[in-house]
Amino acid sequence: MKVLVIGSGGREHALCWAIAASPLCSKLYCAPGNGGIEQVAECLPEVNISDHGAIVGLCCDLAIDFVVVGPEAPLVAGLVDVLDEAGFRSFGPNAAAAQLEGSKGFLKDLCAAHGIPTAGYGRFKQAAPAREFVTANGAPIVVKADGLAAGKGVIIANTEAEANTAIDDILGGQFGDAGAEVVVEEFLDGEEASFFALVDGATALPLATAQDHKRVGDGDTGPNTGGMGAYSPAPVMTDGMCDRVMAEIINPTVAAMNKAGTPFKGVLFAGLMITNDGPQLIEYNVRFGDPECQVLMMRLKSDLLEALIATSRGSLAGQNLQWRDEVALAVVLAARGYPGSYDKNTVIGGLDEAQALEDIEIFHAGTRNDGGVIRAVGGRVLNVTALGASVADARSSAYNAVDRIDWPDGFCRRDIGWRAIGREAEAKD
Ligand code: AMP
Ligand code: GLY
Repeated sequence: MKVLVIGSGGREHALCWAIAASPLCSKLYCAPGNGGIEQVAECLPEVNISDHGAIVGLCCDLAIDFVVVGPEAPLVAGLVDVLDEAGFRSFGPNAAAAQLEGSKGFLKDLCAAHGIPTAGYGRFKQAAPAREFVTANGAPIVVKADGLAAGKGVIIANTEAEANTAIDDILGGQFGDAGAEVVVEEFLDGEEASFFALVDGATALPLATAQDHKRVGDGDTGPNTGGMGAYSPAPVMTDGMCDRVMAEIINPTVAAMNKAGTPFKGVLFAGLMITNDGPQLIEYNVRFGDPECQVLMMRLKSDLLEALIATSRGSLAGQNLQWRDEVALAVVLAARGYPGSYDKNTVIGGLDEAQALEDIEIFHAGTRNDGGVIRAVGGRVLNVTALGASVADARSSAYNAVDRIDWPDGFCRRDIGWRAIGREAEAKD
């Protein structure tokens, strides 16, 4: 079958890499794609993915059989609905189900109505009652823009004054329409982890767990980013904890969405806080994580395309996926200056040598192939991903490959995996 993947990040490179390996895939396209995705798919760099009509036109012209939507923005904007109406099968939730990520207030109300564990909260359109909520609950406290804010709409306020400033900024238009409403919630203390499950409307099939590194600097310092590295599995997510997440969080969500007449189909990415009282849901994303997807795809042994099709057809019941026992770990190389401003079009060398190492895949994000020369054109640029017997092994392979890459204008964190490696060391003592 002919498959079209929508997106241009490391996540989409990993998805394309896994889909290209499926015997079910006869031809793979990616719109717009990037300089690395070209190795496994035909890229369509001219396509504007927010132009849903253009994507339908492309599906007609190329006789596409299956569309996989990578990022959240087109999902929340209803691309799957438009494809559905035009008769094209796709992987991802429709706009109504994508509200799980598109509106934090919607998610919190769903959790409250169905007893899904999450931080206590209030929803506000006016500053005065939001401030009263802050006074009543005290700091630390968390202030969130309701809608999609490109990962920047969450403020962890250490003082009531910081919380009040965040409320004023959000309701004052800092994030445009995404901040028409603010959610203020209790601060949760614990270890964060990500849990992924495929959901076909009625059945949820657990995938795997991962941990991300959101801060730009070593030791989890500096501003938040889209993610500077990840590994899978997350040691904090024991089998017992995964069972609790399925029973207390994922399955009740699937049932609630079904009951509301807006069944969820796609991948549910639960951002969790593992507290002393058990798992609490911080947020849902309605797509794979980036860079979490890269480590998941390295570990998946089963046919990804078959699983994505079963998700869209509603036939996940009874399916089973096979995973490698090894750990996968990804180090993100970003352009110097990210998440602030950075130079573009700088040249990256040494990629072939790094890629040739055993158990290494280099997934590209912001790159362009300029006549055989790979240039950096984004903030997060490469994901150097390794498999290893332990997190420590995977980390040393990944950094060995990173050190073969010649890109003076890039940087990476040098401590990806520190939390899990600490646990591995403790377990040995
Ligand atoms: P989100 O965009 O909702 O994932 O939030 C971004 C980050 O803010 C999360 O990954 C957490 O590190 C943190 N965060 C969000 N909500 C809370 C909370 N209620 N308590 C503690 N940390 C939080
Ligand atoms: N790495 C976090 C995310 O994809 O949302």
